[in-house]
Amino acid sequence: SLSKVIAIDGPSGSGKSTIAKKLAESLNVLYIDTGAMFRALAYSCDQRNIPLRAGSEMDDFLSEINLEYGKSQDFLIGIDGENLTKKIREHNVSKLASIISQIPQVREFLLNYQRELASRVVCVMEGRDIGTVVFPNAFCKFFVTASVEVRSKRRLNQLNEAGDSDLSLEQIMMDVKKRDESDMNREVAPLKMAEDADLVDTSDMELLDVLNSLKSSVEDRA
Ligand code: C5P
Repeated sequence: SLSKVIAIDGPSGSGKSTIAKKLAESLNVLYIDTGAMFRALAYSCDQRNIPLRAGSEMDDFLSEINLEYGKSQDFLIGIDGENLTKKIREHNVSKLASIISQIPQVREFLLNYQRELASRVVCVMEGRDIGTVVFPNAFCKFFVTASVEVRSKRRLNQLNEAGDSDLSLEQIMMDVKKRDESDMNREVAPLKMAEDADLVDTSDMELLDVLNSLKSSVEDRA
């Protein structure tokens, strides 16, 4: 049977987070940001000096922590009671998240966590492998993308807004390409479009126009 998940996958800076968040809001369903989970685990390992590789330290970490998602408006994600919602947005955490996301036991842990979280509700879940691995039977799947340049400009704007802005566009374009490369080529659950997903290219579209088109295709299928 089809699962009540609206899966939104795509590379960073494609606009998928904005779209997913607003889509969830306008459909009045739960918004689940799986990137935030990888970021929180990466941040926390870094803090605790746990190496970002497979092994018993990682196993122990995963079995001991209490990962909390969506406790409230200001508490999107936390570990062991610490609110990490803001901290996980720092630029260096993106890199750590991309590294930790290659570890099979980390993906396994979050796969179970994500399935459990979505088991009782309708939700919009965004990530890299939601339509391919986590919920291959999602009733709606979108693959949201945009050119590297457009995505890098959006990323730069976000960093500027957060006051974290000593990076040039060129620097960011390099980081974005590097991250795409490793997300698309990793062994476990690489970033790729599900065969039955709708492709959405946001390079030349306003995000709000994209939102409206997704919303009507969800409603057509509901
Ligand atoms: O979406 P966001 O940029 O916050 O994700 C951070 C990193 O987490 C990504 O670069 C990717 O390596 C990883 N990720 C993943 N699978 C997901 C979500 C995020 O591998 N479903």
